Amino acid sequence: MGIWPTGYLTWATVISPALLMVLVYILGIVYRWKAGRANLNSVRMDGKTVVITGASAGIGKETARDMASRGAKVILGCRNIPKATKVADDIRNTTGNEKVFVRQLDTSSLTSTRNFCNQILAEEKRIDVLILNAGIAGLDERNLTSDGFEYTMATNHFGHFLLANMLLGLLKKSRPSRIVIVSSDSLLDTLSVDNLNFEKGEFGPYKSYCQSKSCNVLFCRRLAELTRGEGVVVNSMNPGLVYTEIFDKAGGIFIGLFFRLLVPFLGKTEVQGAQTVVYLAAAEETGAITGKFFEDCKISSTADALLKNDELAKQVWEASETLVGLQPNEKHY
Ligand SMILES: NC(=O)c1ccc[n+]([C@@H]2O[C@H](COP(=O)([O-])OP(=O)(O)OC[C@H]3O[C@@H](n4cnc5c(N)ncnc54)[C@H](OP(=O)(O)O)[C@@H]3O)[C@@H](O)[C@H]2O)c1
Ligand SMILES: *[C@@H]1O[C@H](CO)[C@@H](O)[C@H](O)[C@H]1NC(C)=O
Ligand SMILES: *[C@@H]1O[C@H](CO)[C@@H](O)[C@H](O)[C@H]1NC(C)=O
Repeated sequence: MGIWPTGYLTWATVISPALLMVLVYILGIVYRWKAGRANLNSVRMDGKTVVITGASAGIGKETARDMASRGAKVILGCRNIPKATKVADDIRNTTGNEKVFVRQLDTSSLTSTRNFCNQILAEEKRIDVLILNAGIAGLDERNLTSDGFEYTMATNHFGHFLLANMLLGLLKKSRPSRIVIVSSDSLLDTLSVDNLNFEKGEFGPYKSYCQSKSCNVLFCRRLAELTRGEGVVVNSMNPGLVYTEIFDKAGGIFIGLFFRLLVPFLGKTEVQGAQTVVYLAAAEETGAITGKFFEDCKISSTADALLKNDELAKQVWEASETLVGLQPNEKHY
């Protein structure tokens, strides 16, 4: 028999990991095959302006490329200017669209977010689509920003809350316009509005990520309510499991073996991950839908527990308004 294993157990130890990898590989193929496609080949966006946060990588980068390929003017709000400049260059090269611009934005900082918005408001005559995509996947420790917010909450929720409010006036002027909020299916059924920055109780990276993504959904829900009938539609969505840089930059359980080893096989590609964002930004039919949650280019019930909780949505909105110190001249609802 030589080098070959003998007996049942030895064969099992050789075969099980191999079978498992084959299974993972097949699951990945099926998952990517079933992934929703925007199918909007004929939709053009010439003359439209799209603002997108966190477009220097992943889902944001591929969404920006898609918007540029349809002829839109695209503004990338990014924290790492050299990195984003290269991405913008690459998008211009691959789409032939020169109207791709980078502006400095760190959504974890209120000052940076205010500066970004003021620059956009001074430079742009219109915004047709605002895409809130920048995000991190939960840090190991509870770390506070200079504004006193927990870092994940600041990056994923508070910055975007302020940003959308400050740009809402221009979005209304540009009607019909759209806001797309990139959330997740890592959601909580409820949360403590008086503990948004984890001052009390335990902190966990997954918990803070889920809470920030739940705030995205609740904020979307309330904003849709406040803008109903005013020509601005607001929807949130889950891109699904997508193989991007986000897992490399995360802390805690996110850097666990599962994500590092399996997401490359199990996840969607970045282009596939961008499909539902593109669908909400560009499809004719989604221009008339507001306050919903989407997955795979369809309305989904994944966030229903949050979407049905009007009271919680109001409370999170009010708490966020107070915490970011929303000024009267920054309010447009
Ligand atoms: N990948 C998934 O499986 C998955 C699943 C569900 C939801 N999502 C959501 O999808 C969105 C995009 O994530 P991704 O997977 O594409 O990740 P990614 O490849 O890491 O891209 C995230 C983008 O956000 C930017 N960003 C992070 N912190 C920022 C800050 N403080 N200010 C400005 N920009 C910031 C990043 O900038 P840098 O290039 O400078 O790092 C990058 O451009 C996130 O909101 C995420 O929660 C992803
Ligand atoms: C874009 O094209 C120019 C000219 O061909 C080239 O010099 C540059 O390296 C390209 N940039 C990227 C990021 O591919
Ligand atoms: C906490 O945030 C500060 C300021 O942003 C940063 O310098 C520090 O490295 C962070 N610590 C951790 C553990 O992330």
